[in-house]
Amino acid sequence: LRNVGIIGTGHFVPDKVLTNFDLMKMVDTSDEWIRTRTGIKERRIADENTATSDLAVEAAWRALEDAKIEPEEIDMIIVSTVTPDMNFPSTACIVQDKLGAQNAFAFDIEAACSGFIYGLAIAQQFIATGSCNKVLLICADTLSKITNWEDRNTCVLFGDGAGAVVLGAVDEGYGILSTVLGSDGKGGEYLYLPGGGSRMPLSEEVLEKKLNTIQMNGQEVFKFAVKVMASASVEVLEKCGLTPDDVDFLIPHQANIRIIDSAVKRLSLSYDKVYVNLDKYGNMSSASIPVALDEALKEDKIHKGDVVLFVGFGAGLTWGSAVIKW
Ligand code: ACO
Repeated sequence: LRNVGIIGTGHFVPDKVLTNFDLMKMVDTSDEWIRTRTGIKERRIADENTATSDLAVEAAWRALEDAKIEPEEIDMIIVSTVTPDMNFPSTACIVQDKLGAQNAFAFDIEAACSGFIYGLAIAQQFIATGSCNKVLLICADTLSKITNWEDRNTCVLFGDGAGAVVLGAVDEGYGILSTVLGSDGKGGEYLYLPGGGSRMPLSEEVLEKKLNTIQMNGQEVFKFAVKVMASASVEVLEKCGLTPDDVDFLIPHQANIRIIDSAVKRLSLSYDKVYVNLDKYGNMSSASIPVALDEALKEDKIHKGDVVLFVGFGAGLTWGSAVIKW
């Protein structure tokens, strides 16, 4: 089996900034509440003509350029999203067309905020066995389109953006050392979007009750997240024969600074090894981790040979962790 690693990264976020002060004009909230309870100061919002694939394509071009490969060289395109342009075709097929990646097969995955780790694990299998040489994994969401802007419990948390990586075979000893994926469908009711699917097709009632927007039990998601961020981290490190002491850099899902703080404490990591950008972007679902990765690399925070730990959680409920030797 071949070793599989990330050979290029890129990200894209919309220009429009929505600050906590802007939100104070929309719902009964305060900058202080949002900052102290979540760590978020502002987020990016796509305009009404921008769909998820538009963000995805921009991030993809940047990752391809970084990897120094042409679209024709891609064998497989995975898009992780909970806000596809439409139900079908997949956003990945739309992206394939826009990139001119005619040699790739393309499909979407839906593991909510854990999508980056799920995508890494899928890409790894295809490349390790030699079925594919180059895989483009894009995590993109326009959560602003499924947000209830009158619900202060949720609307302060989310933002729009896209992160992309190119995966390929790498030298022995480098690349993805291990991944852990998990799901617990029993927790589905804590974070869901009930309206607009086959169970509850769009209707006037759905629109009136705003059931086509994110419904969340924040405290239950919080409790789950705090537990699983630590346990999934320890589990994947153990699979590699490593401990938290061996971690050179941690890129966690960017949902809430208190969730990250708790994971960092439980793992006894020092804060200079942890990347945080939720203050400027909020929670961008599965795009959060690859956007953070791209920024950390461009800021020269990750070096060859570093052990990088990724961990995330999301609707489903789902979780995932990965260790990559850079
Ligand atoms: N501004 C002011 N007050 C608010 C706001 C707001 N934006 N939102 C909630 N409140 C109020 C509540 O109404 C409540 O008031 P009450 O006591 O009078 O009822 C009070 O603040 C406290 O609410 P809690 O829910 O206890 O606040 P908590 O400290 O739990 O923080 C939060 C809420 C930030 C949502 C937290 O629970 C959290 O981050 N949960 C995880 C959510 C998450 O990460 N979701 C995304 C998962 S990933 C994915 O797949 C998209």
